[in-house]
This record gives sequence, C-alpha cells and structure tokens, in this order.
Amino acid sequence: MTLLITGGAGYIGSHTVLEFLSTGRDVLVLDNLCNSAQESLARVASLTGRTPGFIQGDVRDRATLDALFTQHQIEGVVHFAGLKAVGESVRQPLSYYDNNVAGTLTLCQAMADAGVFRLVFSSSATVYGTPAHVPIDENCPLGQPTNPYGRSKAMVEHILQDLATSDPRWAIALLRYFNPVGAHASGQIGEDPHGIPNNLLPYISQVAVGRLPQVSVFGSDYPTVDGTGVRDYIHVVDLALGHLAALDYLQAHSGTHIWNLGTGTGYSVLQMIHAFEAACGRTIPYQLAPRRPGDIAACWADAQKAAQELGWTAQRDLAQMMADTWRWQSGNPNGYPDSPTK
Ligand code: NAD
Ligand code: UD1
Repeated sequence: MTLLITGGAGYIGSHTVLEFLSTGRDVLVLDNLCNSAQESLARVASLTGRTPGFIQGDVRDRATLDALFTQHQIEGVVHFAGLKAVGESVRQPLSYYDNNVAGTLTLCQAMADAGVFRLVFSSSATVYGTPAHVPIDENCPLGQPTNPYGRSKAMVEHILQDLATSDPRWAIALLRYFNPVGAHASGQIGEDPHGIPNNLLPYISQVAVGRLPQVSVFGSDYPTVDGTGVRDYIHVVDLALGHLAALDYLQAHSGTHIWNLGTGTGYSVLQMIHAFEAACGRTIPYQLAPRRPGDIAACWADAQKAAQELGWTAQRDLAQMMADTWRWQSGNPNGYPDSPTK
C-alpha cells in the first residue's frame, strides 16, 4: 500500500515525505511544482536511500487523480498542495479559492470514487482569527480570518467536517499548524520561498546570509514581553512527525479529528532575532516598523490534545530550530538550484 502526499515537494511536504519513507512506508508525491523544486525529493531520496514516486500534476485535475488511484493502491492521503502567501491571496483570491478549496473538493471526489477515505489536511492556526484567549485550544471558537488564504483554510475545514458527517467511512485529520520553521538537521532540505519572504524566519535568515539588508520588526507596542508580536514557532521535523501520528490515529478512528500542532511556547520577534544571532554568530540588523495590517499580538498553542490522543509532542527547542535553519540557509544561500524562483 502507498501513501499519496499532495504538495510533497514543498517545504513541509518534503520533510514529511522523508519521515514517512524513513519508517518504511511507500510514498507517491503529486505536485505541480508551482512553488517547489523537484530537487527537494532527490535530496530526500539520497538522505533516506528510498525514492518516492513522483507525478508532476495538479490536484485540481480529476483525470490525473483518477489515473493515479487506478494505478496505485493508495491507503490514505496527506494533503499539503495549495497556495499559502497571505498578501498574494488578497490580490488573487480566485486563484486561492480554486487551488485550496476547489482542489480539495476534486481530491475528495476522486478519493471517494476510488474508495480511499483516510485524509490528513494542512490547516492553520489562522482559522482562530484573533484568539479569544491564549494558549489556544481546539475548542476555542473559530474567528474571522483576515484574508482569502485564511478563509480558504476555514472553508475547507467546514467542507471536510460535513463530508465526514455524511459518510462514516471517512477518517479525517485537520491539523492546525502554528508557525513552522527550521529545516532537516542534515541541512539538505529546507524552506525556499519565492522572492522576498513574507514570514519572519526566512526573512531573518536571508538577512543573515546577506541577501537582504535588515529585518523590519512589524510593531513594537503590542501588549507582549517586549512589545513585539509573539508566535508559537514549531520545528518542521516535529510538525512532519505529527502527520505520522495523525495518520496512525485515523486507522482506528473515523470522523473528523482536530489537533493543534504547536509547541505551547511563544517567542517574540526580538527573541527570535537574538536567538538567530546566537545560532549564526552574526549580528542581524533590524529596525522597528509600524504594525503589519491583519497581525495579532500573540498566539500560541495549547498542544495537550495532540499529546494525549496522538502521543505526540514537539521535541526540538528554539536553539535547534535556529541552528537547523542556519545550516540549510548557509549551505544553500539561494535555495534549490531548480526552484521556480531562479
Ligand atoms: P509550499 O508552497 O512549500 O508547499 C505546497 C506545495 O504544493 C508546493 O510544492 C506546490 O508546488 C504544491 N502545489 C500548490 N498548488 C498545487 C496544486 N494545485 N496541485 C499540485 N500541487 C500544488 O508550502 P508549505 O509551507 O509546505 O505548506 C504546505 C501546506 O501547509 C499548505 O497547504 C499550507 O497552506 C499549509 N500551511 C503552511 C504553513 C506555513 O507557515 N508554511 C502554516 C499553516 C499551514
Ligand atoms: C502568517 C500569516 C498566517 C499564515 C502563516 C503561514 C499573516 C497576517 N498571517 O502568520 O495567515 O498561516 O503566516 O506561515 O500574514 N514579522 C516581522 N517582520 C517580518 C515578518 C514578520 O516583524 O518581516 C513578525 C510578524 O508581525 C509576526 C511574526 O513576525 O509578529 C511572525 O510573522 P509571520 O512569520 O509572517 O507569521 P504569522 O503572521 O504568524
């Protein structure tokens, strides 16, 4: 039996493919490479000594999906494929709803017709909007995401819950990621963002490597430890391992299951900058700047539900997140050689 991983050439997907291959599972990746490089999977193969199957194709393409489900014995699907840039989603909402919402619908229709009912979905803490309280547990009411990207994740969560209610054969995990950072400890695979990064840690690491001049710290008057925004940063390898635990759980539990994947600890922007300086041995120039529209002050997970039900907790601390990010960034200052950004 084979596991289908959509978006498996991307940042979180490639780390997850590596962990599944390492446990002996057979993996087939479906990715259209719109935001990734096939080199990531070549490196996963050389790190694990096992080569994942690969189909370059689109999750919205029903014919590709039908052929894939006919040709392979798929036991379950881990669905990463989608678009994730918040600012771009405001400029191109149709593209985000098409890839993220319509893509998931097409995938689920093809799965049902093929008799495959086990699905792990990449959701986001963004579905909580401005949280009613921190830490955020899974019972915290959903908020109003401030952009089409966030709304697309919330919509898919509702659709998948309706689907599982309609048919007891479905077993679906909604994994709400907090802020994924870091890279595999080998430094061979990592995050390779398009153009100027939107997210904090890729921005800091590109300043450290000399690609960008300085970090703008968005807001210094939040009610936090030092006035800057606080987030729950989670090492991408811990996040990947959360998918293995969730898929195992689905073997014995149908219905929809929601888990926060975070560490339970928040760090401020300035704490992140100083921790990265310690890891790379360089000074990171920064300037205090106005708040970024749509940002919240602080957000971190209550991760106890995943600990209790999945036996999963994040193991890698902030120092390791920073050291692994730096190993990847300094060894690959321009990312993958065949990335679509080059
Ligand atoms: P990524 O862009 O690195 O990976 C997504 C992959 O999906 C890419 O390889 C891309 O080429 C592929 N893809 C996109 N649209 C596709 C389509 N229509 N058909 C086939 N392939 C397609 O992003 P990532 O950071 O690895 O994120 C993976 C998932 O996790 C996404 O769904 C994202 O929304 C979600 N997520 C990410 C974060 C984060 O901070 N990185 C946080 C919360 C949730
Ligand atoms: C952002 C998205 C969120 C998405 C997540 C995916 C917004 C409003 N939110 O989350 O929907 O799910 O990415 O990765 O875009 N910061 C700076 N300078 C920078 C970049 C960021 O100070 O150059 C600060 C931010 O203000 C924030 C923290 O760093 O306080 C983290 O920002 P970021 O990495 O963009 O993640 P989120 O905003 O949490």
